[in-house]
Amino acid sequence: MDQTDSGKVESSLILLGVTGCIAAYKSAELLRLLQKRGYTITAILTEHAQKFITPLTLAALSGRPVITEMFSSTGGDFGPGPAIDHIHLAREARALVVAPATANTLAKFANGIADDFLSTLYLATPAPVVVAPAMNVKMWNHPAVQRNVETLRARGTVIVDPDEGYLAEGYHGKGRLAELDRIVEEVEKTTYQRLDLKGETVLVTAGPTCEDIDPVRYLTNRSSGKMGYQLALAARQRGARTILVSGPTRLSPPSGVETVLVRSAQEMREQVLAHFQEATIVIKAAAVADFTPLRAATQKIKKNETGWTLELVPAPDILSEIGRMKQKQVLVGFAAETGNALEHGRQKLQRKNLDLIVVNDVSQPGAGFDSDTNVVTILSKEGRERRIDRASKLEVAHRILDEVLACRSPHG
Ligand code: PMT
Repeated sequence: MDQTDSGKVESSLILLGVTGCIAAYKSAELLRLLQKRGYTITAILTEHAQKFITPLTLAALSGRPVITEMFSSTGGDFGPGPAIDHIHLAREARALVVAPATANTLAKFANGIADDFLSTLYLATPAPVVVAPAMNVKMWNHPAVQRNVETLRARGTVIVDPDEGYLAEGYHGKGRLAELDRIVEEVEKTTYQRLDLKGETVLVTAGPTCEDIDPVRYLTNRSSGKMGYQLALAARQRGARTILVSGPTRLSPPSGVETVLVRSAQEMREQVLAHFQEATIVIKAAAVADFTPLRAATQKIKKNETGWTLELVPAPDILSEIGRMKQKQVLVGFAAETGNALEHGRQKLQRKNLDLIVVNDVSQPGAGFDSDTNVVTILSKEGRERRIDRASKLEVAHRILDEVLACRSPHG
């Protein structure tokens, strides 16, 4: 499973999960397309998938046994014994690809329900997961399904959105299995991932902090945590050990990332300092409070007719503190600005002793808080300036990591 010089990872085993939907017949063609790209395929059919396509078809095409049951009475075909086939395959696989994926399978993956071979394998594999849903348009648009899709995306699962077109139900809508070429392209992108951060320990902060005023009130900000979580995911995808220190968010932590949940700026400081020495790269995407109440009341502060003055004191400036401690680490700060963004960014870069600063003009459309996309300019201490036009936060995260590696190169 080691990386070759070309960046391709040596295991070529793709686990192809097929679930119970009319588009299951297309999995035979998908299997052949993946084989043509040099992958070895082991197919897994759920019980309902077998109503639409036979195991024999996929076994004949793949030249390998097809898995249809959780426990095979004939003994393990792929590992030391039947009970642990899913563990053995999970470890060996280069990717798990599920096409088509039904609403039921999405729900099981999103919620960790392991009641058959495929859903158990999903929980057991460290390999990247590519899922191509297919279903009726009303099901696809249902908030429950969309929520499961978002949960999976946030966890790092690559979702190949269904296409629009004529559905088996006899009308037009979004829900058809994506074109097979698009699925193959996503599988290739995922399996040819660079592992250029292998050996690094990346410490990322994300989300807002909450500064308690009393047992019912607190001060916070609009950060959703998306930017930081996508940075952690990108670092993990590129082979780094990744530690995520996160303020309160609604997001599920990306799989494979060591996540520490905190609440206040003070707690975030403690956790960043606790992990700072082991980190080789530190990226501070969190929106940390600049001020915190002088003291949090232990009882709810009562309403009165005359008003209320809340006394605030500066919260710990974590980035400045680690900027002073920095030795081997590449230190990346963020600057959320609403005017004169580049100028303010440059000042923060110098003042906080950073290697890079990601300037985020949060007043631009598609940028900043809670958006799925971002628009940033990355400034380096050597004077490089790189603008990234509107792109998904995952794409922006990868471009930031590219710049981190450029700092390391002798010509950086
Ligand atoms: O979470 P999302 O909804 O995806 O939104 C992303 C984001 C807008 C929060 C993110 O892209 C971003 O810009 N994060 C930094 C927000 C911020 O607090 O900026 P700042 O200019 O106030 O702080 C500058 C830097 O100092 C930041 O790296 C911050 O983490 C750090 N800081 C700030 C205050 C403080 N007390 N301690 C710190 O370490």
